[in-house]
Amino acid sequence: MALGRGAGRCRASTSRGQIRHARLAGRSIDRPVAACRHPGCRAGDEARTKLERQGLPVKSTRTTGSWPSPRTSRMFGHLPRWTGNSLALIEEGARLGPVFSLQLWRPAVVGYSPDWNRLVLGDAAGFRSGGSLSQLSPYLSGGVVALDAPAHRGRRALMNPAFHRRDIAARFAEPLQELIDRSMPSGDFDASQWSSALMQNMIQEVFVGKSFPEKVLHNFLKPLDTPMPGPLLRRPFKIRRMQSALRTALNEADPTTLAPLFGSLEGGVEEARVAIAAAYDTTAHTLAFALWELAARPDLRVPELAESVVQETLRLYPAGWIGSRVATNDTEFKGRTIPAGMLILYSPYLTHRDPELWRNPLHFSPERFSDPLPPWGYIPFSAGERTCLGAALASLTLQTAVKAFADRSLTRVNGDGSPRGGLTLAPKGPLVLTRGS
Ligand code: HEM
Repeated sequence: MALGRGAGRCRASTSRGQIRHARLAGRSIDRPVAACRHPGCRAGDEARTKLERQGLPVKSTRTTGSWPSPRTSRMFGHLPRWTGNSLALIEEGARLGPVFSLQLWRPAVVGYSPDWNRLVLGDAAGFRSGGSLSQLSPYLSGGVVALDAPAHRGRRALMNPAFHRRDIAARFAEPLQELIDRSMPSGDFDASQWSSALMQNMIQEVFVGKSFPEKVLHNFLKPLDTPMPGPLLRRPFKIRRMQSALRTALNEADPTTLAPLFGSLEGGVEEARVAIAAAYDTTAHTLAFALWELAARPDLRVPELAESVVQETLRLYPAGWIGSRVATNDTEFKGRTIPAGMLILYSPYLTHRDPELWRNPLHFSPERFSDPLPPWGYIPFSAGERTCLGAALASLTLQTAVKAFADRSLTRVNGDGSPRGGLTLAPKGPLVLTRGS
């Protein structure tokens, strides 16, 4: 869904107290402005009263100040909608304005403008990771993801060089090319399943070496392929087995992989486990979306366009669709106070679909990447000090795979490529394609 930034904000001529209907992607929607708080705006009050009469109170709690908020149930806040269809919920919030509040298990403020992204991502000490959403999943609650300033910076300084674009290309371009060449499907295949299997092989190749027990890796990663709450459930047995296999791999330290790096770090076993989890479904889902789009657009299947096809896939379907922090101190934003301790969400998904930043945002058009990018408006790998550690590795893997599909026909058989928000953004699927021989 395209977002009309401020579409839910009052544009009414309040003199007559009319409720103007919000505009969404160029069409009228029959929902009135829900929570306008422009001084003296009767439209907002009327809208609120109407919604409340329907039993859908519009919340505005003291803790979240007066940010507008999507409709919610009195008893459970936004949690049922968050778990049921989180994308529809944040899209509704985005129509109310560039910052809106949610009542999850705790109050949260969500924003998606470049200014918001700069505020939240540009200040690692002021917006910390501890206590944020990533801590809810055993897959992400550890290693560098769980560190905050000042320890975070030191840990990244130890890891960044090995993940630098130049080093990643020098070490892994060839093995990845060979892996992808051997894995190419022919005939009918499911793009999600194929991409996930390829990523498991990529992880062996790059992180731990071919002698790593495949079954342990597969069992460890499998819950990441399941819908919520699968990736949030504690998995002590799977995690113990993975950690034990990783301990062996890091001791053996295959020099053609990143195992020596992880082996040299204090807490390297946990660090490797979290990096592998962070690498897996993000890259697999991005590749699945890319293949689905490529199958519909033969004109894009040329090696020279691989980079912009990957960039555009990451824009329209950013695997890290929502990110979170906790405010360390009271902070001012656009004249309002965000209180210390507040859960702060930023959303690459909403930013990348904002028509104020992107022309025709729902259209898949890699050509747009020949123009300059909006500052703080393209953040598929986040930005600032916590920028994705594996951005270069993911980009190399994705571009190599996309190029490999330039050689023969690729067509859609059936499926549903629309996105679903879980721990990462995934295609609803299935995504059945056929590759010509
Ligand atoms: C298309 C693939 C990928 C996408 C879209 C992606 C996206 C992201 C995003 C948005 C963040 C920031 C989360 C936040 O703190 O708000 C992040 C962090 C991270 N990513 Fe990725 N990622 C991808 C692939 C990878 C790969 C291949 C690795 C392998 C090393 C990786 C490892 C990490 C780690 C360790 C962090 C935490 C960084 C920190 O807190 O300092 N990611 N990723």
